[in-house]
Amino acid sequence: MLADSYGRVATDLRVSLTDRCNLRCSYCMPPEGLDWLPAPTQLTDDELIRLLDIAVRRLGITEIRFTGGEPLLRRGLVDIVARTAALEPRPEISLTTNGIGLTRLAAPLRRAGLDRINVSLDTLDQQTFVALAKRDRLADVLAGLAAAAASHLAPVKVNAVLMRGVNDHEAVGLLRFCLDHGYEMRFIEQMPLDAQHGWRRSDMVTADEILAALSATFALKADDPDQRGSAPAESFLVDGGPAKVGVIGSVTRPFCGACDRVRLTSDGQVRNCLFARQESDLRTPLRAGADDDELVRRWQRAVASKLPGHGINDPGFLQPARPMSAIGG
Ligand code: 5AD
Ligand code: SF4
Repeated sequence: MLADSYGRVATDLRVSLTDRCNLRCSYCMPPEGLDWLPAPTQLTDDELIRLLDIAVRRLGITEIRFTGGEPLLRRGLVDIVARTAALEPRPEISLTTNGIGLTRLAAPLRRAGLDRINVSLDTLDQQTFVALAKRDRLADVLAGLAAAAASHLAPVKVNAVLMRGVNDHEAVGLLRFCLDHGYEMRFIEQMPLDAQHGWRRSDMVTADEILAALSATFALKADDPDQRGSAPAESFLVDGGPAKVGVIGSVTRPFCGACDRVRLTSDGQVRNCLFARQESDLRTPLRAGADDDELVRRWQRAVASKLPGHGINDPGFLQPARPMSAIGG
């Protein structure tokens, strides 16, 4: 098991497959991009699968979510998913992507064993998309979403981050689009994770504001709160259901006390929290020939020291040194 000193147990492993991306979302990266991690530091497919095997067989991980950067840019992704699906016990496998490339990859990923998918979509307006992501790719994202649905990666979940003065007028439009297409919409509060440290609390559109905006148009009824468990999204039935919308108040309604996540970066570092200021290196011992027992011990130690919360609301909060693109969402 991966337990920490506050009694939480990590069962959900988020794996960043690359820190590279073909977009430059302002809440993540500066327009000019970042220096990508050097190739030799990146876990090979075999190294990654070795760690995933240890995670499910020895450490109680039951869900593996692939993230990035943009995970569809990882060469060999379909094979990585297939090899993950062959692990025993087989974990649930999901993917968080910006959607670009799904027209080609959705069906092969589904065949390889991918169970679920989250696609980021912050706007339905082409100019706003370019302003936000610095690339003219909205049409590719929408086509990717359709391909995911056609490949039965259901329910397709859509993630949006609203930013004041940029796309904060689109909450209703985004939800309506998702209702029309059978996608499940989730709004996420913007967190201080961008590489350029541009996050301002006053620019963050809060969960309360999102709910107020949606409630002007839709009847929202809180889904059974007991069902929330460790799920960060507070879920609401829309107009009596069955459609739902999720609101993830990471900053104003933190769910750290119920967190069941642990992260592995593409260069083989365990992070016990998005906001952790320390990482535990598994790549070096792995490459030095460590046996499974030693990797298990190191991984357990990395999780044991997890702090009770992210501390964003504390006066002395410091952003983690690594940006979201290198940590994995
Ligand atoms: N705050 C909130 N969500 C973010 N994401 C990326 N950066 C941030 C941030 N600073 C989201 C993306 C994607 C997921 C991986 O995390 O929109 O949906
Ligand atoms: Fe790329 Fe995701 Fe970062 Fe946007 S948020 S730049 S899609 S890694």
